[in-house]
Amino acid sequence: MAAGGQTAGNVTGGGLRRTGLGVTERRDAWWLGPLATALALGAFGVYATFRAIYNAEFQLGEGTSTQPNHAYLLSPFYSPLIVVPGLPAWISPAFLILWAPGGFRVTCYYYRKAYYRAFFLDPPACAVGETRGRGYGGETGLFLFQNLHRYFLYLALIFLVLLGIDVVHSCIWPTAGGGRWFGVSVATLVLAANLTLLSLYTFSCHSLRHLIGGNVDCFSCVALGNVRQQAWTWTSALNKHHMLFAWLSLFSVGFADFYVWMVASGRWTDLRLI
Ligand code: FES
Repeated sequence: MAAGGQTAGNVTGGGLRRTGLGVTERRDAWWLGPLATALALGAFGVYATFRAIYNAEFQLGEGTSTQPNHAYLLSPFYSPLIVVPGLPAWISPAFLILWAPGGFRVTCYYYRKAYYRAFFLDPPACAVGETRGRGYGGETGLFLFQNLHRYFLYLALIFLVLLGIDVVHSCIWPTAGGGRWFGVSVATLVLAANLTLLSLYTFSCHSLRHLIGGNVDCFSCVALGNVRQQAWTWTSALNKHHMLFAWLSLFSVGFADFYVWMVASGRWTDLRLI
């Protein structure tokens, strides 16, 4: 029998138990979760990379040459739009900013679990055998970068403000007389829904919850204790649904980009509601 307990036919506790990648006594469809995760995250990664490289049809409306009589719309993949004079055309402005929300997701406590299982099979699921023959080493070595999550959180909070400004822009329509007037279109609703879901995802973050109250033993003993306790209670309530918000916001940000793309390319007409 090999040391480490990772080959088939190990004797453990007086019984014969097979171990190794995918070996389990579970009888449910445990593989469905990792498979669905791999497909969804993989599809999003391919789409986001394509849209960043595409580097076109990410904005329209006032101030642009595309539908200048429309309120200004900007894809969340390109927001904030950073235009660097002299930058080679093949460097998409999306690449200048996507590292921040991308880093926030890659280092997210929930997504770590999801992609460690789906892509690294480490392990594929609870009580399912993995490949490694050594013990759990934790997130050491290369994986130390996961500790940057709290810093990506600070950036994510700034991005929420910037995406809020994009929603405001989508409500300011140019008038025939050269002025501006309030308006709401389907695009406004799409961008606002995306902002809402991204806010729920960000405010349910484990790291934010710890920042607010995780290092406090006694709320009444610290400055602004009541406020912190209330905020901690809210983030704790949201935190229970962090996985749900992670997925919903991933789909919403992809769809918001897709919607702006379709309108900017003229394939879809953005319906003005107000
Ligand atoms: S733990 Fe998921 S965003 Fe912070």
